[in-house]
Amino acid sequence: MAPPASTPSATSSVITLTVNGEKHALPVDHRATLLDVLRERLDLTGTKKGCDQGQCGACTVLVEGRRTVSCLQLAVAAEGREITTIEGVAQDGRLHPVQQAFLDLDGFQCGYCTPGQICSALAVLDEHAAGWPSAVTADVRPDAAVPPLTPEEIRERMSGNLCRCGAYVSIVRAVERAARTAGAEPTAAPAEGVDADKEAVA
Ligand code: FES
Ligand code: FES
Repeated sequence: MAPPASTPSATSSVITLTVNGEKHALPVDHRATLLDVLRERLDLTGTKKGCDQGQCGACTVLVEGRRTVSCLQLAVAAEGREITTIEGVAQDGRLHPVQQAFLDLDGFQCGYCTPGQICSALAVLDEHAAGWPSAVTADVRPDAAVPPLTPEEIRERMSGNLCRCGAYVSIVRAVERAARTAGAEPTAAPAEGVDADKEAVA
């Protein structure tokens, strides 16, 4: 007789995940990815499956505040971790400034990549605030000043998130806006293709 769903077995274990502040204990197959557990077991379908092989970033979530492609993370490896998905980004019915910027500045078309883009953007702001350099940062000496979030920096830092609709110009613009809202050092110039009217949208 098969063991009850809540019983661990040779191929499954009961794990505890805290997702968007809510604690869940559930049995999961050892081979299940975090992405599949979020979508299929917890019904958190905001996190999208694109390539399912770590290439597109559609499945990006925050694990302990760090961005993670959830299709490459086994759920059992997330045991005991705090996870934030797109469903947990807005607080008290108010959009996060990153979400608002994507909305105001058309940082999407079909929206499929958007949850991953927004989770990545949240991490970009935190990584930048913590002084992390990127692959295009000119001066990476430990005592160097944190570079401003220029469009070039944003493009590089967001390069793990693909958008098949090609909304990149607006995505960069939205992250720039969010960075300014968050108090990050202002960028030197508007992103390529930014028109003054769009930039004026508050
Ligand atoms: S679905 Fe995970 S990176 Fe594409
Ligand atoms: S908005 Fe359609 S894939 Fe990015």
